[in-house]
Amino acid sequence: MTTTATEPARPPGARPRAAITAKTLRTDRWWLPPLLTVVGLTAWVGYATFRVFMHDYYWVDDYQYLTPFYSPCITDRCVEGAAHFGTYLPGWQIVPEAAFSLPFLLLFRLTCYYYRKAYYRSFWLSPPACAVPDGHASYSGETRFPLVFQNAHRYAFYAAGIISVINTYDAILAMQSPSGFGFGLGNVVLWGNVIMLWAYTLSCHSCRHIIGGRLKTFSKHPVRYHLWGYVSWLNVRHMQLAWITLATLAVTDFYVMAVAAGWISDLRFVG
Ligand code: FES
Repeated sequence: MTTTATEPARPPGARPRAAITAKTLRTDRWWLPPLLTVVGLTAWVGYATFRVFMHDYYWVDDYQYLTPFYSPCITDRCVEGAAHFGTYLPGWQIVPEAAFSLPFLLLFRLTCYYYRKAYYRSFWLSPPACAVPDGHASYSGETRFPLVFQNAHRYAFYAAGIISVINTYDAILAMQSPSGFGFGLGNVVLWGNVIMLWAYTLSCHSCRHIIGGRLKTFSKHPVRYHLWGYVSWLNVRHMQLAWITLATLAVTDFYVMAVAAGWISDLRFVG
């Protein structure tokens, strides 16, 4: 149902809202969280876009570090060693090296329940905060094109799971030095990112439903019940994990770029 922002539908018998001329009675800094969200997401998207189309400094040959922004590397421009799964696409400027994974990761984040709340509030002002009027005259929810496609989130979850497996494989392969096994600060960064990506992916609301949904009695499904408990523990931290993983992705990419470009040397613990 479409309702207007000024005259919202109300249940039968409910009293109308008080006639208040002020836009909001809130006196706190309600505008700060949406503003920080705009700044944070814009900065991250700008950095990621710049890096994805840089086509350079994504692979450290000595230690086999591959940035997650280029994984899996599947264009014929991928440097030797970085293409763990083969090359299938032409190395055109407009084609990212990770052309397989990036669209699914973008879809996963765009349709994420937390990010929806974040960008609906901060970019679309719909509404910008509780007890603050909607920035639009009408509201149709997610019932129409294009927002009806937010329902694709559950499918994006499966793709994100596969990509997390690939990132884990990259982190395992990266435990290398020129003489064999090795471990350095880059491995700590890569593994930190992978662990956080798994925590974010498993904390997904769709994951929680897949694990514990559609059950009438938990007592008949003790394994799923226990898994659902772990996923629920992560799920209440989903917002924090959404931001933490943006940070770990950017830090991991920047670290790999800095080592690959020769700006810094990797701190080695073994090998
Ligand atoms: S709800 Fe955020 S990733 Fe699924």
